[in-house]
Amino acid sequence: MKGKKRMNRRRFLKQAGCALAAASIPMSVVELSWGDSDDRNFTFAHISDSHLTHIEGDRFVRNFDQGLKRAVMECNFMSPKPDFVVYGGDLAQLGKPEELDHGLEMMSMLRHPVKWVIGEHDYYLDMGRFWQEKISKLYYSFDHKGVHFVVLNSILTYDAWIKQWATPEERMGNMARLDNPNGSPFIVGEEQIAWLQKDLSGVSHKTPVIVLSHSPLYKIFKPWNFWTDDAEKVQALLRPFDKVTVLHGHVHQILYHQIGNITFQAMMSTAWPWPYPPSYIQKPHQVPKITVFMNRADPFHERDATGWSILNLEDGRVINHFKLWENRDRVVRYDDKLGCPVDLEYQEPSKRIPPQEHY
Ligand SMILES: [Fe+2]
Ligand SMILES: [Fe+2]
Repeated sequence: MKGKKRMNRRRFLKQAGCALAAASIPMSVVELSWGDSDDRNFTFAHISDSHLTHIEGDRFVRNFDQGLKRAVMECNFMSPKPDFVVYGGDLAQLGKPEELDHGLEMMSMLRHPVKWVIGEHDYYLDMGRFWQEKISKLYYSFDHKGVHFVVLNSILTYDAWIKQWATPEERMGNMARLDNPNGSPFIVGEEQIAWLQKDLSGVSHKTPVIVLSHSPLYKIFKPWNFWTDDAEKVQALLRPFDKVTVLHGHVHQILYHQIGNITFQAMMSTAWPWPYPPSYIQKPHQVPKITVFMNRADPFHERDATGWSILNLEDGRVINHFKLWENRDRVVRYDDKLGCPVDLEYQEPSKRIPPQEHY
């Protein structure tokens, strides 16, 4: 019975993702196959890393605008509706009010409530002032259908680094660059860690916990700042819980990992993909061994490996349906027997994705 239920959902999600092209599918039929869900199982969407870039006046880099517009439009076509949409950070490229305002205008087209996570590109020009005034708190928690959600501002850094720059633009520019020897690792910081400890103290260890952050709450590759310096302190607070999932942006690629009881999944960017750190082989990295890399036949094809995610919550675990616009969709979910996330189709080496064809 359970197997049948899952198959129906998968089939549904495939249809939902193709809703534009499959306008002839009667929606009532789709809804019937969804009908056996209960309240603890729900759906939300995740859009991240749009990097809207201001040129001058009312001009913005069109390609990045198009990515966010497409994700918003596809979310609006989801049926049944997602309970909410998470925005995972890096809405702007250089934190400019024009960029954040432009992003807000585009996101206002969404027909669903939004849970906001801040990224470093949104923060380091004005140190989060615009974000807090016009968009959202920087960190907060909420409960939804039996799941405890925590939003963290994981892109803080050390005061000494912040104070060394002559102008806000210089500070922003140095934090925005990927491969910057003058960069600084992210931290969550003591204030938030104390808040998190207090917040979690009222939550039963049997309650599923989902943490939404921008940077990964583990260490992957320091030269690119795929790195949160005090991640272990956050992990320690999450350790007593039975089911914990961290969903993060920032890395612009599929990455998944398991550390003890904590499952980590990275979300896609709507703007551009980053390569995987092993492509920079001069330096050691800690890219999770369980991740099956995205197969990008042409790393210079900028739209390859961009997209967004539909997330199903089933029994407190996340089933992540990557909607990849110029690549084959993938599904990553927690495997009870293995105790870690796996790619449903491509985890076995013999089943890995053949090279993409580009014309
Ligand atoms: Fe980003
Ligand atoms: Fe980022």
